[in-house]
Amino acid sequence: MDSIERTIKATWQHRVLFTEAIFDPANPVLRDTLGFGRRNKTLVVVDDSLVAALPSLPAGIARYFAIHDPPLRLDCPPLVRPGGEKAKSSWDNVSELHGAIDRYHLDRHSYIVAVGGGALLDLVGLAAATAHRGVRHVRIPTTTLSQCDSGVGVKNGINAFGKKNFIGTFAPPFAVLNDFRLLATLPNREKSAGYAEAVKVACIRDPVFFANLERDAVALRHFEPKAMRKLIRRCAELHVDHIATGGDPFEFGSARPLDFGHWAAHKLEQLSDFRISHGAAVAIGIALDVTYSRRMGYLDAQSAERILRLLEDLGFELFAPELLLAGSRRQLVVLNGAEEFREHLGGELSLTLLRAIGEAFEVHELNTSRVVESIYELQKRRAARRLTELVAAV
Ligand SMILES: NC(=O)c1ccc[n+]([C@@H]2O[C@H](COP(=O)([O-])OP(=O)(O)OC[C@H]3O[C@@H](n4cnc5c(N)ncnc54)[C@H](O)[C@@H]3O)[C@@H](O)[C@H]2O)c1
Ligand SMILES: [Zn+2]
Repeated sequence: MDSIERTIKATWQHRVLFTEAIFDPANPVLRDTLGFGRRNKTLVVVDDSLVAALPSLPAGIARYFAIHDPPLRLDCPPLVRPGGEKAKSSWDNVSELHGAIDRYHLDRHSYIVAVGGGALLDLVGLAAATAHRGVRHVRIPTTTLSQCDSGVGVKNGINAFGKKNFIGTFAPPFAVLNDFRLLATLPNREKSAGYAEAVKVACIRDPVFFANLERDAVALRHFEPKAMRKLIRRCAELHVDHIATGGDPFEFGSARPLDFGHWAAHKLEQLSDFRISHGAAVAIGIALDVTYSRRMGYLDAQSAERILRLLEDLGFELFAPELLLAGSRRQLVVLNGAEEFREHLGGELSLTLLRAIGEAFEVHELNTSRVVESIYELQKRRAARRLTELVAAV
């Protein structure tokens, strides 16, 4: 047999910059990120909810580019596109962006800047990664969740065939620029959704961060900027550390520790027709996997209670009626989430559970009876909390 085999090595510089008032002409961060070498074209895509809350933003962005031209170059006004999960609901949205890339003659050295929530970033990231086999993509995330988790990663994608992120690629962005002030217009529900990802990464990686979250829970519940900035900074750092040093940035293996709590979460999002946001679903997914870890004897009761209490203190519900939806054979539909998760990852089922706060490990099968018991336990816990609240309100 004849063969040619070589090792191909490639390195990426994964940059997440923290700044404030990024489109203030006096702020050089965006100019310095895009404006070196040739005068490369930029296409900017902005989340429509952000524009609805901040109507002057597209003009402000255009002004920033005009003031810094050269070295910046913007050939068309920022495109305003629907954000939220509907952004990821159709390939047409990707095609539309491909059309704009073609119309404005962007090349592989041009930039596509996405300003918006994680869903819009996932959509624009996919279009950028697939046009010309990859146009430089700069992310400016505008939700807590995307600033601390989804926006600082290396994945993109849209949903298809009723499955989350079915179409997508691994493509490290050219840069991620986090501007805390862009979170000011977020509804409270979206502000706190990202906290679930912080609890997730603290649970699997960092007991000190977990204790800090417990200490800051009241401040976070009141959206105090100092506590939120700290959460975003540390969560993003742990996320990027995992990608850079975890040994599997493009997830060729089966283990996916950053997806702790996500097998049920993705299914709940879909079963609720996205009524339950990603962050809210992740909180429930974590609660389920923590309760299951305790019931299986992996995790001590005190640690499990600390995690559930922290999620509640941060304002999350730990149960949703969708957990109890039954299929034609009366089995709980949410349980299909584990197999869909396996299929998405490839290889054998690999789920992250906890042995302690800060200590994760992998399992390769689920005891479905214990999962069902855990779901009912969360339902009972929610009912008990409601009762306490009602009695307190009398
Ligand atoms: N690529 C990845 O690695 C990865 C990882 C985790 C999650 N995700 C994906 O990220 C998505 C969730 O992202 P998200 O939590 O950022 O929510 P989102 O993008 O769905 O945004 C939530 C809502 O807030 C609006 N919005 C965004 N910024 C705003 C602002 N500053 N002011 C007012 N409204 C604003 C959006 O239009 C949307 O309606 C999911 O699709 C999830 O699957 C991707
Ligand atoms: Zn997530």
